[in-house]
Amino acid sequence: MKGLKGKNVLVTGATSGIGQAIAACFVAEGADVALNYRGDISKLDDTKKLIVKTCGQDNESKGKVLPVEGDLSEEGDIVRMCSEVITQLGSIDILINNAGIQSASPSHELSTADFDRVMQVNLRGAYLCAREALKHFMQKSIGGIIINISSVHEIIPRPTYISYSMSKGAMENMTKTLALEYAPHGIRVNAIAPGATATPINSWTDDIQKRKEIESHIPLGRVGTSAEMAAISAFLASDDASYITGQTLFVDGGLTLYADFLKPWSAGEE
Ligand SMILES: NC(=O)c1ccc[n+]([C@@H]2O[C@H](COP(=O)([O-])OP(=O)(O)OC[C@H]3O[C@@H](n4cnc5c(N)ncnc54)[C@H](O)[C@@H]3O)[C@@H](O)[C@H]2O)c1
Repeated sequence: MKGLKGKNVLVTGATSGIGQAIAACFVAEGADVALNYRGDISKLDDTKKLIVKTCGQDNESKGKVLPVEGDLSEEGDIVRMCSEVITQLGSIDILINNAGIQSASPSHELSTADFDRVMQVNLRGAYLCAREALKHFMQKSIGGIIINISSVHEIIPRPTYISYSMSKGAMENMTKTLALEYAPHGIRVNAIAPGATATPINSWTDDIQKRKEIESHIPLGRVGTSAEMAAISAFLASDDASYITGQTLFVDGGLTLYADFLKPWSAGEE
């Protein structure tokens, strides 16, 4: 991808799933990547293994990595983490707002604490990381890129996951608002909206039967991979996407295409 080599990237939630694959993809492109984790640093072991698997052990053209601890539900952690990355790597050129959680409950029974927990990580945490990155971009005056990892639930309602659905719906507005506000400074803000992707966030990932059921709802007939989400994130952060801002790219195997319309039921035909 054009323009990723030598860039400094911060990936939130880099210990698992999509964040892990994004980290490996950017390192393979020659970017230096700050890997955010929460708590024990050994949570990054699998990410480091994936990076070696993707890039090879002694590949000189690959980027380096910097582990950075931080709980995205804590403002203090976010401010410290961003400043640590700037000090250690010299800058943040690309922020990937990936960390996310979900919590299932009928909406009328959801506790305020559970609602807040999801909003704090998925939305407030993503905004605060963007705010810190934008402060830095503005000081440097040489552009900057933010990619938000949203979801098809940015536009598809998700009953019993109200806080998740609301957080991703608001992420669309955050992407567009920040893109418009900072476009005059050459800063680009975009999002990707993954469909069903095989990662630890989903209970069906390691369950063949459940997975088949999920795949029956997807026009391309299969779930997505973290590597596919990583490739699109890298594209949006690259110079190949230099004229794209304020957009959400749906990476969902057609999930948002109203799959029911494959059959012509609306015209009353058989
Ligand atoms: N997997 C899917 O089907 C799917 C679909 C649409 C969108 N997404 C989005 O993709 C993103 C990544 O999800 P995933 O599928 O890889 O899930 P995952 O559970 O594998 O990874 C989530 C990551 O977020 C981190 N995280 C959670 N809370 C944190 C906190 N307080 N501080 C720091 N890090 C924290 C976790 O440690 C982990 O690294 C999320 O934003 C999710 O909403 C996933």
